[in-house]
Amino acid sequence: MYSQLLSIFLSVILLITLFYFYYKFYLTRVSKKSSIVHTLAPGPRPYPVIGNLACFRECDTPFRVFTNLSKVYGDIYSLQMGTTPCIVVNSFELIKEILIVQGSLFGGRPDFIRYHRIFGNDRNNSLALCDWSSLQEKRRRIARKYCSPRIISSNYQLMSKISLIETPILLKAIHKRILSGNKSVKIKPLLQSAFSNMFTQYLCSTRFDYEDKQLQTMVRNFDEIFYEINQGHPVDFLPWLNPFFSKHMNKIAGWANEIREIMLERIIKQHLDTVDYDDHPRDFTDALLQYFREDEELSWDHIMFDLEDFIGGHAALGNLVMLILIYLMKNPHCIDKIRQEIDAVTGGLRDVCMDDKYKMPYTEALVFETLRICASPIVPHVATEDTTVAGYSVCKGTVVILNNFDLNTSDLYWDEPTKFKPERFISQDGIVVKPSHFIPFGTGKRTCIGQKLVTDFTFIVITSILNHYDVSYPNMDELKLVPACVALPAETYELEFTLRKDLF
Ligand code: HEM
Repeated sequence: MYSQLLSIFLSVILLITLFYFYYKFYLTRVSKKSSIVHTLAPGPRPYPVIGNLACFRECDTPFRVFTNLSKVYGDIYSLQMGTTPCIVVNSFELIKEILIVQGSLFGGRPDFIRYHRIFGNDRNNSLALCDWSSLQEKRRRIARKYCSPRIISSNYQLMSKISLIETPILLKAIHKRILSGNKSVKIKPLLQSAFSNMFTQYLCSTRFDYEDKQLQTMVRNFDEIFYEINQGHPVDFLPWLNPFFSKHMNKIAGWANEIREIMLERIIKQHLDTVDYDDHPRDFTDALLQYFREDEELSWDHIMFDLEDFIGGHAALGNLVMLILIYLMKNPHCIDKIRQEIDAVTGGLRDVCMDDKYKMPYTEALVFETLRICASPIVPHVATEDTTVAGYSVCKGTVVILNNFDLNTSDLYWDEPTKFKPERFISQDGIVVKPSHFIPFGTGKRTCIGQKLVTDFTFIVITSILNHYDVSYPNMDELKLVPACVALPAETYELEFTLRKDLF
């Protein structure tokens, strides 16, 4: 009898405790600043342990689930992803509120174990995945001059020159594959080698031969990491599963360590031997070494990882060009328009150069349309303080998922959003116009600093390929792309190339 009473008593205490925590964590929060009770944004009821992860059981992309849930719960709603409280934000107005109006309160990044493993066990080594800080701002400032060069600057001229050296080498490498009897070309590693060389020449004055084993390892590892970062993983939200995925985590760390060893041996050592600390920096690597010597706040790891972040950016370009080629094969009428623009500016006598971009609006718009339809995700942000959004409480540590997929594919924002139409970005005056709600590179404090490198290098490579080759795939129905993703696996489609115009 006594033990029955005790168990009833304990059950009641347990229930009250559970209710208290449920109420505390899922239903309401008291804003410390205003002492006004704000409710958490609504959302599906979470299960113990997994929270709302079951919502993502069967889906081609989590972003479709985010969009579907917004139809039930509105433009802002709560999700408990395993151990991590999240809000999902859908409308452009609310995305602006997070990234611009309250940008300083949402400058954090998620604390995923995978992020730590890629960056030497501390994600704050990375410029893209660290939390916002004055040091991060300084690192951005140092990088911006090189990664976002002004059109009139010498760095822009250098980018242009490098693209004209490197692209013919890519075209010849494709030709060599065809001459060896292979119509079907493993194009992605070639593209990645070309972009890697553009980046390492521009940022480090270093070029690798395509046959160089270290180049092949570096581009392969960067490509694997790029794909990895673009996928979700159960350990991100259920970190206690980590011991079960140690092999995978070690593999990720191994890719990054191998890259760093190659960078040290082939790029940094050579710069350390030749840098003149009193002279104008020869490139980004020199500039980083000079800052390292002058500024006590910057550690050696910051230098190494900054360089790695930026050289690694090339992996995004190889994937983007793969996507552009696939969309073009599915929409061949667009190829004709691009070739008309190429012929109009070159007269058929030379390859396109960066200065031609402003006379080729359709081709410039092609890159935007691919980014739109792929709906490349924005890296999640994290609230660094308690705040409110649209009248709902958002607690410090909440991960914010910005539904860029909805922004890019909703008919609220676009006419015929499922159609591939580069011309949607061209005004009646024939000028490329980006609507304000089109933010493939994010916006606000943490906006992408590599966008100039992306749009300009991609422009040169895509025009050169289309100028000289017809590109095809034997069975178009097999070409499948995952929505809301700009990454293809490292081993991906091989495309067929046929020479249409001799190489210059
Ligand atoms: C297809 C190509 C690319 C796309 C679509 C893209 C898009 C993005 C997006 C959406 C963000 C997050 C913005 C935010 O959190 O608000 C970002 C951040 C960033 N990107 Fe890119 N990016 C691309 C290529 C590159 C390249 C080539 C580089 C470097 C050379 C680069 C460097 C960065 C850095 C450093 C950040 C972090 C900025 C910060 O957190 O302060 N990106 N990018």
